[in-house]
Amino acid sequence: MKAKVNGIKLAYEIHGCGTPVILLHAFPLNRTMWAPQVSELRKDFEIITPDFRGFGESQGTDEPYTMDLLAEDIHALLRHLSLHEVILGGLSMGGYVAFAFYRKYPEMVKALILADTRAEADTEEGKTNRKNMAELVLKAGTKVIAEQMTPKLLGKTSFEQKQELVSRIKKTISSTSPNAIANAQLGMAQRPDSNSTLKHITCPTLILVGAEDTLTPVENAQRMKRNIHNSEIRVVPKAGHISSLEQPMDFNNALKKFLEIITISS
Ligand code: MLT
Repeated sequence: MKAKVNGIKLAYEIHGCGTPVILLHAFPLNRTMWAPQVSELRKDFEIITPDFRGFGESQGTDEPYTMDLLAEDIHALLRHLSLHEVILGGLSMGGYVAFAFYRKYPEMVKALILADTRAEADTEEGKTNRKNMAELVLKAGTKVIAEQMTPKLLGKTSFEQKQELVSRIKKTISSTSPNAIANAQLGMAQRPDSNSTLKHITCPTLILVGAEDTLTPVENAQRMKRNIHNSEIRVVPKAGHISSLEQPMDFNNALKKFLEIITISS
């Protein structure tokens, strides 16, 4: 499905019915990464999975995709769907966008799911690396990026033992628009530190992190847990940065428990 929102055609899917849960994907993937969560949760919830601007089947634009811009796209999509309050989840870049969304529209967030993400902004070195990748992808294409990124996105266990998943991630990255990769890198480099936001988060929050995540490691997740008052943390064993896809059963069990408590208590 596509909706014309915030000046672009944004692709999204909706499955199931019940309390709405919107799940924001990681970089440089797309909404299809949430397939294991959609098939499990659609029995009890309305699951909305958008493609960020430029990714998957969403229309791109030629500018840095700042987290604020992506959050505005999500806000416009929710307005289009007449949804005033949702459970908001994001993995990695999806989590950065969730922070930006929460800063602007806290009243619309019933609960937060922060998976394999971090509150910290980039270091100067991190910003330079992003700029370099943005230049590289425009020059050399997406296959190089797929080869570089896949071993970092997946945990050691998945990379060594789950060949199908390795191929699938490489294929998804290879088919992503080079412009989207470049623009999202430039946008992520501009994102502010979200640590000061953490203390203002009052809604129930589930923090998930793969035990083998090297990009946003367990220590970052624990730091978020310490600073978000109403939060709990679950470490997903044998998973790296894309814990939702690497160990979907463990990830889903933690998610379902959290969602059930939220919906029962409201
Ligand atoms: C992601 O998975 O979304 C990326 O690792 C985020 C980032 O590059 O910081």
